[in-house]
Amino acid sequence: MKNRFNIDIYDKRDSAEAATAAAIIFYAENNSAPVIGLATGNTMTGVYKKLVDREARQPGMFNACHFIQLDEMVVLGGIGDNHSKAGIFNTDIQQQFLGQLNGRYASFIGLPASFDDPDKTVANHLDKIAALGGVDIQLLGIGVNGHIGFNEPPSTQDSICRIVSLAESTIALGGYPANSVGLTLGVAEIMASQRIIMLATSDQKSKIMAKALSTRPTPDCPASLLRNHPDLHIILDRDASSIINSYQQKVDQNAIFTHHG
Ligand code: GLP
Repeated sequence: MKNRFNIDIYDKRDSAEAATAAAIIFYAENNSAPVIGLATGNTMTGVYKKLVDREARQPGMFNACHFIQLDEMVVLGGIGDNHSKAGIFNTDIQQQFLGQLNGRYASFIGLPASFDDPDKTVANHLDKIAALGGVDIQLLGIGVNGHIGFNEPPSTQDSICRIVSLAESTIALGGYPANSVGLTLGVAEIMASQRIIMLATSDQKSKIMAKALSTRPTPDCPASLLRNHPDLHIILDRDASSIINSYQQKVDQNAIFTHHG
């Protein structure tokens, strides 16, 4: 039987970000040693702001939480290569979230910006995640081409943590140097998390969200594979959801839509 999943749609981006932050806070407050996978990108900045604001009122609320980095811009071959964006996601997580907390957090399993041995780097990241018992809740954005993390199309459901070449659209929108590579948890590790929360905002994401919800799950749109996950929660603002209606006949019948103010 196919999995049902919730899609919550909010009129305003701010409300969609608040709902995403609330879902993470709820999980953090109701579990003893939560392992939370962190995504980055413009979409997430408002979420981190809300998490930081809430923690300022309740310092220590993340004391027991372990945080895991989903993906990173990397340079192969050691420090010394000039790549201004290498390590940017780790920096964003520190600057926008972890470095802003008043209380503590249990640990942050981050990704390096530069390394010589990809196999060793991947094994190290996966070992640390496994030692925590796996990811409980994975926060995700979506690329305009349907990528999740840096799993560019095509990425199969059994693709694992690895170095990837970035798609042209990813390089252009991110302002990354040509031939940039990324390091990402694979679709397999993302699917292995207990719960997935995907946030998409702005009309830039409207077309790909409609596709991700209406195409059959396919490696050509990695986000569509998430519909095979048993506990998927999608949060959208009105702009990101704006053309789902025109795909209505094809939209996954297992989606449960709730429109909020
Ligand atoms: C980036 C990251 C993803 C992110 C996505 C969307 O390149 N690799 O983890 O979810 O693309 O980014 P944004 O929120 O800036 O649109």
